Amino acid sequence: MTIPFQTYFAIGAIATMIILIQRRLHRSAASWMPRWFAEERAARRAQAAVSGAFLLLNLPWVILSAVAASNRLELWITISDARFSAVQWVMYPFAIWQTGGVTIWLFLSAADAGRWLSRRWKAWRGRESIIPEFDSRTHPGRREWIQAAGTSLAALPFAASGYGAVVATRSYTVERPEIVIPGWPKQLDGLRIAQLTDIHVGLFMTEERLREVVGVVNRLEADLVALTGDFVSSSRVYVAPCIRALSELRAGLGVYACVGNHDLFTGSVGALDEGFRAHGIRLLFNERESVLYRGHGLHLIGIDFVRQDGRVYSQVMRGIPITPGTVLLSHQPNVFPRAAEQQIDLQLSGHTHGGQVRFEIMGQEISPARLITPFVRGHYAKGGSHLYVSRGVGTTGPPLRLNAPPEITLLTVRGA
Ligand SMILES: [Fe+2]
Repeated sequence: MTIPFQTYFAIGAIATMIILIQRRLHRSAASWMPRWFAEERAARRAQAAVSGAFLLLNLPWVILSAVAASNRLELWITISDARFSAVQWVMYPFAIWQTGGVTIWLFLSAADAGRWLSRRWKAWRGRESIIPEFDSRTHPGRREWIQAAGTSLAALPFAASGYGAVVATRSYTVERPEIVIPGWPKQLDGLRIAQLTDIHVGLFMTEERLREVVGVVNRLEADLVALTGDFVSSSRVYVAPCIRALSELRAGLGVYACVGNHDLFTGSVGALDEGFRAHGIRLLFNERESVLYRGHGLHLIGIDFVRQDGRVYSQVMRGIPITPGTVLLSHQPNVFPRAAEQQIDLQLSGHTHGGQVRFEIMGQEISPARLITPFVRGHYAKGGSHLYVSRGVGTTGPPLRLNAPPEITLLTVRGA
């Protein structure tokens, strides 16, 4: 398989960006040392220590490259299951550093832009500012104040990233939405579906952690379990630990699944299908399967991840009958308007991680997920059709969550 040119381009662009960000941060951190240490030799030593710390905090890129290579080269020597916890001791500080660093870099860039604009403005006006430049070295009192303020401001993004990585990613919430659907068959009234999505087994979602999640799901005693994709993070080597943990799921009507974009781009689908089959979990590939519940058919459709919501969706749904009592498992929530046109009762999706890192400013939601979908999290309705988007349990990119805790869902479906 040849690697497309765009992949090389994207890797090159990301690597350049990382180097530029780290270089800017290093320059800024080193420039603070003479303010902290009055003696020149001590300041120089501190600058050398800063350079060393930067080097160490960027070394884990080598581990991430090995994970990416393991997918392609079928190598799995760097990180095995047994070494997961050891690796995490390295990866968590790395992730916290990188995420906090990017945030600080954004602030520094804004300050740089402000300074540049101010200089241009002064040059255009043809005179110096009437406000004298402030030199912290000549004002010791203010110097201490600026040091304290600067340190607190710099610590804030790292504290937030640390909380998001260590605490928030493990604070599982069990959501229990009740979905009332007009025309839902009365025999199926009260059906309880447990949904688990975006598990992303990898460096930060270990087999052990997934087993804990599976334990929570089993204790909910749902009639059926729906797994809506993204089983692995960045490599198919994670399929085996994922299957081992998920094989312990128990539900009267069975466990049904569909694939997500990460399962597709890591080439994990074949191994997932094989592993799931061995443990009685049904992975649905653009097909429908029916089960009997209190004498009525419950119809489960599972579709692959589709990038576009229109034409491709119509293609994958071609020939699949849609009757009352239908639940669509689609990793991609964006197909919902089309599913609603087809009068599908209920669609279960993931993909967004509930935004993963989410802010709300004046009632406006700001999160990466808003860029890709209007269906970020929770319950949506259109006509008689309903969509539920779970925040999922895992993470992608930085292993942290802010304002979007991991979710295990227990839906109760009722007739109107
Ligand atoms: Fe995902």
